[in-house]
Amino acid sequence: MTPWWIRIPILFFLIFGLMEYFVDSGDQPAFIKYPVAQFFLLMILLILIAIELIVKSIENVMFQTLSKDAQERYLNTQAKAWEWKWGRQMYKKLLGSRAIEEEGEIILDHNYDGIRELDNKLPPWWVYLFYATILFGVVYLARFHVFNDYDQTLEYEMEVAEAQAAIEAYRKTAKDLVDVNTVILLTEASDLSAGKAIYETNCLVCHMADGGGGIGPNLTDQHWILGGGIKNVFRTISEGGRDGKGMIAWKQTLKPAEMAQVASYILTFQGTTPANPKAAEGDIWVDENAPENGPVESASDSTTVAMNE
Ligand code: HEC
Repeated sequence: MTPWWIRIPILFFLIFGLMEYFVDSGDQPAFIKYPVAQFFLLMILLILIAIELIVKSIENVMFQTLSKDAQERYLNTQAKAWEWKWGRQMYKKLLGSRAIEEEGEIILDHNYDGIRELDNKLPPWWVYLFYATILFGVVYLARFHVFNDYDQTLEYEMEVAEAQAAIEAYRKTAKDLVDVNTVILLTEASDLSAGKAIYETNCLVCHMADGGGGIGPNLTDQHWILGGGIKNVFRTISEGGRDGKGMIAWKQTLKPAEMAQVASYILTFQGTTPANPKAAEGDIWVDENAPENGPVESASDSTTVAMNE
């Protein structure tokens, strides 16, 4: 039997934990995301208190019906329950100290001006902990110095690889989280074919199927009016071109993931020769961050996420 002021919080947090575990609420805890969850928790708390009160009053009524003798016995068992006997004994054992009354048995016989010494044993909790460290040390030595399981470099590399896989997986599920700062060049065939489909429904009229240009500029050369590279192209598609030129902002129509796909698709035009190329407009765009100051190449885009920096 635990007292009510332990029982109620334990049950409450148990239910709270279960709720958080089973209610899928993304990054936020459920009780913040869904206000109704707060109401639910409040109800749970009230119900728990109500149950306690009801049980208490039933106990009270039953107690009144007992005979004097039985009442006394009942009170005795109540008192014992409060003591948490086992826990106390264990605590005492682990402390291993002698009661003050028994100290006479372990007192040493030297005496320095009235200062005397007790021959206490080491406390068992400390001794067991010490044995545990020895055991740990032996296992550790065998595992890492005899059998060379793995070293820190390998451990680090494994963790980085795991994190990278997690980032990849996350990108797959959360493609729409990209914006102009985080967009990277997509190279997977599925993304590029999705980009191609978007291009052919929305952009082809002005830029031509092969990117040669018409109303819109040529997308196959290294000249860019508004800047090349995945980030600039993404921004142009999202925010549109200069006023009055005819290139609208596509962010109303296309999702971020779709803009990243079509931007990546456009960049595959680089270096191809269209049937009717429009004359180059704008400046040759050079990726400042690319190694060797080479021409813009989709493969050497500087915007891939740099790890471990
Ligand atoms: C109504 C015609 C039209 C449509 C449709 C159109 N564009 Fe454009 N696009 C233009 C024009 C005009 C420009 C030049 C804008 C400027 O000079 O500011 C341009 C510029 C661009 C540029 C920048 C080129 C550079 O040299 O900097 C990109 C990238 C681009 N368009 C991609 C797209 C994509 C992707 C789509 C489809 C989602 C699309 N455009 C649809 C007319 C169009």
